[in-house]
This record gives sequence, C-alpha cells and structure tokens, in this order.
Amino acid sequence: MALSLLWFPFLFLSVIGGCVGRPFYPLPSKTVNQNKQPLQTFRPYNIAHRGSNGELPEETFAAYMRAIEEGTDFIETDILSTKDGALICFHDVTLDDTTDVADHKEFANRKRTYEVQGENVTGWFTVDFTLEELKSLRVRQRYKFRDQQYNGKFSIITFEEYISIALDAHRVVGIYPEIKNPVFINQHVKWSDGKKFEDKFVEMLKKYGYKGAYLSEDWLKQPVFIQSFAPSSLVYVSNLTDVPKIFLIDDVTMPTQDTNQSFWEITSDGYFEFIKKYVVGIGPWKDTIARPVKNYLTPPTDLVARAHAHDLQVHPYTYRNENKFLHWDFHQDPYAEYDYWINIIGVDGLFTDFTGSVHNYQEWAQAAKDSKNALNLLHKIASMISSYKI
Ligand SMILES: *[C@@H]1O[C@H](CO)[C@@H](O)[C@H](O)[C@H]1NC(C)=O
Ligand SMILES: *[C@@H]1O[C@H](CO)[C@@H](O)[C@H](O)[C@H]1NC(C)=O
Ligand SMILES: *[C@@H]1O[C@H](CO)[C@@H](O)[C@H](O)[C@H]1NC(C)=O
Repeated sequence: MALSLLWFPFLFLSVIGGCVGRPFYPLPSKTVNQNKQPLQTFRPYNIAHRGSNGELPEETFAAYMRAIEEGTDFIETDILSTKDGALICFHDVTLDDTTDVADHKEFANRKRTYEVQGENVTGWFTVDFTLEELKSLRVRQRYKFRDQQYNGKFSIITFEEYISIALDAHRVVGIYPEIKNPVFINQHVKWSDGKKFEDKFVEMLKKYGYKGAYLSEDWLKQPVFIQSFAPSSLVYVSNLTDVPKIFLIDDVTMPTQDTNQSFWEITSDGYFEFIKKYVVGIGPWKDTIARPVKNYLTPPTDLVARAHAHDLQVHPYTYRNENKFLHWDFHQDPYAEYDYWINIIGVDGLFTDFTGSVHNYQEWAQAAKDSKNALNLLHKIASMISSYKI
C-alpha cells in the first residue's frame, strides 16, 4: 500500500505531461511478459466499472491504472465512435456531463438534437467530433459528491489505448468492453469500407490478439467479455468471434434498443434458451433481482436461479459504496452488500465503482475462511496427538 501511494503521483505527472492526441503507450503494446500472474477464476469476478470511477474521472487512463493497482480482475469500458470512425472509451452519447466541452467556445455551434432510443436528446455528441477534437477536451467526475480534484487533468482515451493499459499490466487483467448504443452509432457514423460499428469493434479485439472461448488457453492469456444491451449486436458478433459475450439487461421499464423487446420477454426461460447459444451470461441491473421498497430490499426473484439453470453466468451492475446507493438492509456497509450478493444470491461477477473495496472484501473473506480451516485442522491434529498419547 505504501509503495503504491508513493508511485501514484508519478503516474499522474506522466499522464498530465503527455502531449494531447498522442497515445500514452507505443502501439501496439510492446511489453510481452509470459510469466504474468494469471487471472483468478475461483471466485466471482471483480469488474471495475469504467475503471475506479468512484475515485477518478470515469474511463480515463488514471481510473483504469488505479483499478489495476487495486486488484481488479477486469477493467470495464463503453465503446462509442467519433465522427471520423475512431473507437473511444466513453459512456454517454453526449459529452456534456463528463467533459469540459461547454467551456470550449470553438465547439459552441456543435450542439445538436438527435433521437436516441426513442427520446430526443440535446447536447454535444461524440459522433459530431473528430478524434483530434475530442482529445482537446478534458474529462471530469460525473458525480458532485465524489472527488473533484482530478477534473480537467485527463483526456478521453481510445479503445486501443485502453487495450494497451490491460496488456501492459504486470499481471493478467481482463477487458470488458461494451458495444454501446449500436443502433445510434450505425445511424450516425459510416466507415469508408462499408463495415459497421460491430465489425470495427471486433476488428480491434482481433488486432490485439483477443480470441478463444471462455476459459480456453487463448482466453486465459487475454481475458475478454464483450457486453451489449442490444441482442442483435451480440448475435451478429458471435459470427465474427468466439470470445465470451454478456447480454446486458436494463430496468423493467426499458425495451431493448434494437429489437424493442420487453424486460419480461428477454428474461423468460424461452429467451434464455435462445440467447445462450450466443452468450455465456447476463448482466442485469441488481435492483431488478431484489427490488428495493422504501430503500429496503424485497426478496429476490428467481432470475439468478433460472439463468444458472440455463448455464448462464450472472454479472449484475452497479455496486457503489456511497450511503445514498446502499439499501438500509446493509447498515451502510458495502461489505454487507457484497456478502449478500456473493454468498446469498450467488452472482458470478460484480460491476463496481469501487473495485478496491470488492477486492479487499474478497481477500479478507478468503483469509477468514482459510484461518478457520487452519484452526479446524489444528484442532484435529491436537485431538489425534492427545488420543495417541492416551
Ligand atoms: C424529436 O424531434 C423531432 C423534431 O422536432 C420530432 O419530429 C420527433 O417526433 C421528436 N421525437 C420524439 C421521440 O420526441
Ligand atoms: C453468420 O454467418 C453466416 C455464414 O456467413 C450467415 O449465413 C449468417 O446470416 C450470419 N448470421 C448473422 C446473424 O449475421
Ligand atoms: C415497441 O413496442 C411497444 C410495445 O409493444 C410498442 O408500443 C412500440 O410502438 C414499439 N416501438 C417501436 C419503435 O417499434
């Protein structure tokens, strides 16, 4: 811990000092280390939602480096496109909430209104900016109640830069990119070779050697889950790559963006039977599994049990430490929430804004279990010895 605190400021200096528009790393990644500590596969996956965005501005180099330092299994990201077809790590289709675009007078006339998933949205859209223009912006923290001191220090990174961060890590760190808003992106961005967003997305993974079915030798070297809320994108990319895919499921009121299917339809046994040909699991919003009423959880539905019965993993989102996100059942203790989801509900992975907390929880829970086992063993040996003496 002391060590990491020491080198962390250097990390920031090197990031801030880097020139705009230039990748932080030479691409493709040059650091090939055959003897990396492997991905753990014996307990639920710790998935760093947009990096350690509870601490640092989301989807930035710093947020991902922090997540790796804190013990994440996978760094998670949302892939969108620029006007000139570059794939970037960014969550919203508009830049308004998490960048300083409003302060850039040169982009004042770039504001637009587009229909996104059946709603008119007004703002500065990534699809109206070139990559070079986007690199001149700076990212900021989404939530006012989180640390604001890093606002303005980091730029938007590309899909390639994100991949390099994972590949250059000192241990095996997986990636978990989302095909974000594919209907919208394919409407607004055209690639000169006639390919579509999903093709470009998979091309990038292939360029950096991501391949292989879940838990295959290739996959374990460079673990990846492709995620999307759009089932037709998942079906389409399953023709292009055999890497594992996760079907994200929105709130009960939200129809799918591409096939306009209801929550009830896509969580039925019949649908699970269909989608399991293409995906290894689902990523539901956690509040749809155990609905809160007056901020207390109601008993969980059978969603997890039914998904497991269809051999589908379940990776719910999003776990956040702050009091305002914790239901009263958990006594304002995020560890109590992790304990419930991991040991009572039995999830296979967790998307969290605080990857360090999930890691510490898992390490300490494991240590407690190990010492209990060790103690039991000691008692056994002691009783064997004492019976031998008699
Ligand atoms: C969005 O705005 C356009 C132009 O004003 C309008 O024709 C369209 O119906 C609106 N769409 C929605 C979903 O409100
Ligand atoms: C997958 O590829 C096959 C063979 O190229 C093609 O017939 C099929 O339509 C493709 N499926 C999808 C969903 O694109
Ligand atoms: C989506 O489905 C709902 C409910 O069946 C229907 O009312 C709505 O018109 C559909 N929307 C589109 C864009 O097809």
